[in-house]
Amino acid sequence: MLADHPVLDVQPVPDDRPVLDFLVADGAPVEEARTIAPDPDEAMLSVLYAHPAPEPGRRTWVRANMVTTLDGAATGADGVSGAINDDADYRVFRVLRALADVVLVGAGTVRAEGYTPLSVPDGLSDLRAAAGRAPAIELAIVSRSGDLPGQITDLDQHPAGTVPPIVLTTTSGAANLRGYPADRVVVTGDTDVDLTVALDALADRGLVRVLAEGGPSLLGDLVDGQHLDELCLTTSPLVVGGPAPRIVRTGDYLQREGRPPARLVHLLHSGGVLLARWHLGRAGLPDHT
Ligand SMILES: NC(=O)c1ccc[n+]([C@@H]2O[C@H](COP(=O)([O-])OP(=O)(O)OC[C@H]3O[C@@H](n4cnc5c(N)ncnc54)[C@H](OP(=O)(O)O)[C@@H]3O)[C@@H](O)[C@H]2O)c1
Repeated sequence: MLADHPVLDVQPVPDDRPVLDFLVADGAPVEEARTIAPDPDEAMLSVLYAHPAPEPGRRTWVRANMVTTLDGAATGADGVSGAINDDADYRVFRVLRALADVVLVGAGTVRAEGYTPLSVPDGLSDLRAAAGRAPAIELAIVSRSGDLPGQITDLDQHPAGTVPPIVLTTTSGAANLRGYPADRVVVTGDTDVDLTVALDALADRGLVRVLAEGGPSLLGDLVDGQHLDELCLTTSPLVVGGPAPRIVRTGDYLQREGRPPARLVHLLHSGGVLLARWHLGRAGLPDHT
């Protein structure tokens, strides 16, 4: 029961956003009860989730934000992640978007979840400006095929105030995108998207704080290529079974050797939902600080 929770301060709730309990900070249990009350400006979450600058020798800081059920599913029965997330996840999701230069997403997720060009989450423009981000948030789509839905390729369907997504694709993918603004199409390889080239192309445009929102195939390739610096992972208190993918899909097991374990930066909780921020180490390199 929430009222019995050891770290829950009873506070007036100014809106219906969930209170978040702050359980672990800097990898250690918080000693005094702390909560993150609903806040239209999300001041505390913006500090907890400040999007780091790239490390020396790297051109981007790639953070992924994913949700999973207790049994490891990345979707619910309807085949999308919306079926397994909730308001606590949404609170963090909005802040992560507001703090990113660019949201990176695979074409499968664009098709499944109906992505459109992005707007800054309501009420978080000031937070975004204070963090030094440009007013508009960019969307970059990774697609081998260039086969994207009309809400992306038809500029007339774009919401007002948004910029056309950048498409990171292949030679044949670009051929499928004739008519789309040429300066928004980046060819990163003949038959495959080279994610190093793709991330460099984003960095060339000043888009260095990258928020990867999946899906599992793209996340698998980002992890495999050691491009992922951080994982924000929501665990929903659901067991769904079924054929859902996990949040990382790769053909083979990833090389374990030399890869340090992830480091827990912080852990939040709300009504059974766990929101963790993990730093990922890279093979042969010391852990992130
Ligand atoms: N639980 C979560 O947090 C979460 C997050 C996001 C999505 N999802 C769910 O995941 C499912 C989609 O899974 P998915 O694995 O198909 O998603 P995905 O990674 O978004 O899409 C796969 C497609 O994206 C393109 N792509 C991805 N990585 C690529 C690479 N390295 N090089 C070239 N192209 C690449 C390809 O597009 P083309 O086919 O156009 O070549 C590929 O077919 C949906 O059900 C969605 O709801 C869950």
